[in-house]
Amino acid sequence: MTCLNTLVKRIERERLLDSVAVPLAALVHKAVGARSVRNLLSGTALGHPAHPMLTDVPIGAWTAAALLDTVGGRRGAPFADLFVAMGVAAAVPAALTGLNDWSDTQAEPGPRRVGVVHATANTTALALYTASLVARAKGKRFRGRMLGWAGYGAMSAGAYLGGHLAFAEAVNVNQTAFEDRPLGWTPVLPEADLAEGASRKAAAGNTAVLLHRRAGQVYALSATCTHMGGPLAEGQVKDGCVICPWHGSTFDLADGHVVRGPATSPEPGYETRVREGMIEVRAADSGRGPVVG
Ligand code: FES
Repeated sequence: MTCLNTLVKRIERERLLDSVAVPLAALVHKAVGARSVRNLLSGTALGHPAHPMLTDVPIGAWTAAALLDTVGGRRGAPFADLFVAMGVAAAVPAALTGLNDWSDTQAEPGPRRVGVVHATANTTALALYTASLVARAKGKRFRGRMLGWAGYGAMSAGAYLGGHLAFAEAVNVNQTAFEDRPLGWTPVLPEADLAEGASRKAAAGNTAVLLHRRAGQVYALSATCTHMGGPLAEGQVKDGCVICPWHGSTFDLADGHVVRGPATSPEPGYETRVREGMIEVRAADSGRGPVVG
């Protein structure tokens, strides 16, 4: 294990961080409750989280500024200043989308604690670059460059922890990406066991599916929420949609598309039919409705 891994493990175990992380996450969760706000900050319309894409802009801009501050000389100075300003402006939407994503880790101590340190590092970077920008505007170039390099260090620490959350902890990664969905018709449940208006969880080969009967039709989606793996089969069904009990992601039962975030990936759907009293399912492309036998 590298010393960086050891450091991250320490952060994950540090209970003191919860005194800040728990109330802050609850506050953010409340602030992003409205569907339009939630969808916008989550990146629901994009089909994947907005935060990783938005962070590329300040990281790129500040990297260019650091390079110009180091080897750009007098001619590079105005461009370095421009890149610092660009990074400061772009860091604000990146921070807002990050806070939105992080607020869903309330129930997971490790990612919750790493997330609050990640946010602190990035906020520190933003503060240092803002101070750098002010110093540059006042003509204090040396001070501005020093503050910029310090900001770059803080940003790098934040980026490392962000990478850990995404690639080691799989926060906000489509939790159904590796599902082994049956391509051929697979019997999953006696038809008599699914009453009108009821939902059931059943096994389709190696994969769990949510079954719901509505107006005589049987709908089937993956039983695992794409957002963070919530138990979709336990979700409330309302207006033709199923609502995940963990963070409220809402999926259309007919084709699995996301009606409300934080989920950004649609829920994998299944075609359904009834043969000899058994409900059968097979993997369907997203956007196709149920087939009733
Ligand atoms: S796990 Fe987050 S909304 Fe389902």
